[in-house]
Amino acid sequence: VIDIRKLYSQGDVFTYDPGFTSTAACDSAITYIDGDKGELLYRGYPIEQLAEKSHFLEVCYLLLYGELPNAEQMVDFESRVTNHTMVHEQMHYFFRGFRRDSHPMATMVGVVGAMSAFYHDSTDITDPWQREVAAIRMIAKLPTIAAMAFKYSMGQPFVYPKNSLDYASNFLHMCFAVPCEDYVVNPVLSKAMDRIMMLHADHEQNASTSTVRLAGSSGANPFACVAAGIACLWGPAHGGANQACLEMLREIGTVDRIPEYINRAKDKNDPFRLMGFGHRVYKNFDPRAKVMKESADEVLELLGIHNNETLKVAKELERIALEDEYFVEKKLYPNVDFYSGIILEAMGFPTSMFTPIFAVSRTVGWISQWKEMIADPTQKIGRPRQLYIGQTRRDYAEVEER
Ligand code: ACO
Repeated sequence: VIDIRKLYSQGDVFTYDPGFTSTAACDSAITYIDGDKGELLYRGYPIEQLAEKSHFLEVCYLLLYGELPNAEQMVDFESRVTNHTMVHEQMHYFFRGFRRDSHPMATMVGVVGAMSAFYHDSTDITDPWQREVAAIRMIAKLPTIAAMAFKYSMGQPFVYPKNSLDYASNFLHMCFAVPCEDYVVNPVLSKAMDRIMMLHADHEQNASTSTVRLAGSSGANPFACVAAGIACLWGPAHGGANQACLEMLREIGTVDRIPEYINRAKDKNDPFRLMGFGHRVYKNFDPRAKVMKESADEVLELLGIHNNETLKVAKELERIALEDEYFVEKKLYPNVDFYSGIILEAMGFPTSMFTPIFAVSRTVGWISQWKEMIADPTQKIGRPRQLYIGQTRRDYAEVEER
């Protein structure tokens, strides 16, 4: 029997696989995806069941520890998280160093990276207790940091966390409450936000999670690793797609302009792509998109939003693309970001907050994957090979001879 892992680890096998389309870099017991069936399981539980019956903090527990909590474990976990929702007052001054209209993602990359300076008592990765504290701190503080980045970008005062609220409601409260007015979180929006968080919580070895693992493989501290994940998530081919998608829908503007954009997406000489369509792994409907679509309908119905032009464009675009030969043949279905942007817009978030909300939701996935990797005794520093295509050896020429 050939031990393929041994051959790889000795460097005896070399595969050329740009974009890692068929190369596994780790084993993991956290999330399972069957892209052909359109199936997504967290620790074995189907995403549809979790989205219907569970809630975000329970999903966090499941992803982190591998099992659903009993009632006592849940209370304990919730109290540990709520205990850490505030950020150190000094971080407020740190925020003020950013330009007043900074993109919230830019602020988040910086602030989360700086958490290792503010919370250096949980950066020793060899200490399981410190690893645990770092995980809880990140799950608890990322919503606070994202909301602060949002408030800062709008020139509004920061709103402190309200620990009597559940996780999603507290996030909405920190984003939308203002000092001179009463703010009561709408339970429909809170449920929809909780669902967005659950659906984005983990997605095995996507680009940002792989970035977190690669950064962590060198022994870097978890805050620095998650900051690297946030930076990667920002790209429009990944987490930035929900912002790019809504901006595209607005640019299309009216239903009659859809064919023009469909044709552009099909044109090989045009770099334009229909944002919110396609996925590296799902070659069937993204199961998260199905749940998100239901949620979008529910939110818009309950908010009484029927005649929104962006929404009309989205629905028509979806209908046309699902019937179009090009999209059918290439199995380009709407992905989760196609619908999440519509819900977030209906909630009143500007597009610049779409990716930060994704980052808040994915933090538990990043940290669960990081913890899994650190605990694995066979873990090695990530170091991809390359296929060199540059100059062969040549001699240095003095400047006057060039
Ligand atoms: N619009 C038009 N054509 C597309 C699209 C699209 N959105 N996506 C893929 N294609 C075409 C490509 O041009 C390519 O055509 P070809 O075979 O003729 O060259 C073919 O489909 C395969 O595309 P790849 O780029 O090779 O697929 P890959 O798996 O590398 O990319 C990705 C997946 C990045 C998600 C891609 O579909 C895309 O750019 N989508 C738009 C951005 C987006 O919505 N991203 C969110 C992903 S989900 C998430 O991060 C939560």
